Amino acid sequence: MNQEKSSSSAKKPLGVIFFLLGFIGALVVGWVVFPSLLYSKKAQPINFSHVAHQSEECESCHSLRADGVYSGIPRIDKCRECHESAQGSSEAEAKLVSDYVEKNREVPWKVYAWQPDNVYFSHAPHKGQGLECTRCHRDVSTEEKTPPYRENLITGYSISTMKMVECEQCHALKGASNNCEMCHK
Ligand code: HEC
Ligand code: HEC
Ligand code: HEC
Ligand code: HEC
Ligand code: HEC
Repeated sequence: MNQEKSSSSAKKPLGVIFFLLGFIGALVVGWVVFPSLLYSKKAQPINFSHVAHQSEECESCHSLRADGVYSGIPRIDKCRECHESAQGSSEAEAKLVSDYVEKNREVPWKVYAWQPDNVYFSHAPHKGQGLECTRCHRDVSTEEKTPPYRENLITGYSISTMKMVECEQCHALKGASNNCEMCHK
């Protein structure tokens, strides 16, 4: 009897250790392994350094057109203004000139924040709200390298595609409408 008792109490700490190992393992899989398996990483077609273009105003490349539509990422004609031929010796610039400027092709940039077609988003109504670009986008001002574009393998969305609940939270806070038809036309 006595022997049995002591062996079962010796198992207890082992059980706790196995439980903790399993628990920690599940957390690692849930928080580290699974998310990294869930997203594929893709590089931009060429590296774009916002730092190298610091002397330009943001508006000279990204601006609201007169009709209220955001100009988005500038077209190759904008790049040609300064990169008709290579100015420096970077690989990215050489590729820009030979593959896009000289061939008059648009760079197929990946838009980190893109929304699916069933969502209507316009920068115009948000423009006058005193929101920093970084409220909805990453901070590009210190970037020398474009970060990898991370795509959810199940939904196909970018990791930076804003979730519906995030749009709605700010709308609720600022007293803007949350009617379905406003964002889904
Ligand atoms: C010389 C042109 C140029 C200037 C000036 C410029 N950008 Fe960009 N911007 C780009 C290009 C090209 C991309 C696409 C590559 C990338 O995502 O970095 C881009 C991408 C972005 C994106 C990412 C949108 C998304 O979700 O994919 C944001 C946000 C942005 N720029 C903000 C800014 C801000 C803020 C400034 C001023 C500090 C600025 N840009 C100045 C050319 C420019
Ligand atoms: C107003 C002039 C101007 C415009 C417009 C412009 N660039 Fe540049 N770009 C520069 C200058 C100046 C440099 C060199 C900066 C340096 O090397 O420090 C540069 C550097 C680069 C480089 C090499 C930087 C590196 O470190 O890899 C790339 C790539 C590049 N630009 C891409 C673009 C693209 C793409 C566009 C269009 C969306 C664009 N540029 C529009 C002036 C411009
Ligand atoms: C309220 C949130 C919000 C704010 C603030 C905001 N953006 Fe965006 N931006 C978005 C969303 C959402 C998209 C994707 C739109 C889509 O795909 O329909 C986007 C897309 C973009 C794109 C890519 C456009 C394209 O499709 O080519 C650029 C560039 C951009 N934003 C720049 C900026 C800049 C610069 C600022 C600050 C002046 C800014 N944004 C402020 C939410 C925002
Ligand atoms: C940080 C705050 C904020 C975020 C995030 C935000 N919005 Fe808004 N949005 C506003 C405000 C404030 C208004 C009201 C503007 C006004 O009253 O004219 C607005 C207005 C709008 C309108 C136009 C309303 C009209 O009257 O035409 C649409 C559409 C919209 N938002 C869609 C979106 C979508 C889609 C997202 C997410 C991808 C989003 N918003 C994220 C603050 C935000
Ligand atoms: C402020 C903007 C906004 C409002 C209001 C809004 N949505 Fe959305 N909705 C989004 C955005 C952004 C997405 C895409 C991102 C995501 O899936 O979270 C989305 C996605 C969805 C999806 C998923 C579609 C898919 O392909 O995954 C459904 C369903 C949906 N919305 C239904 C509704 C209904 C029903 C309402 C009204 C009760 C509503 N939405 C109101 C912004 C909005």
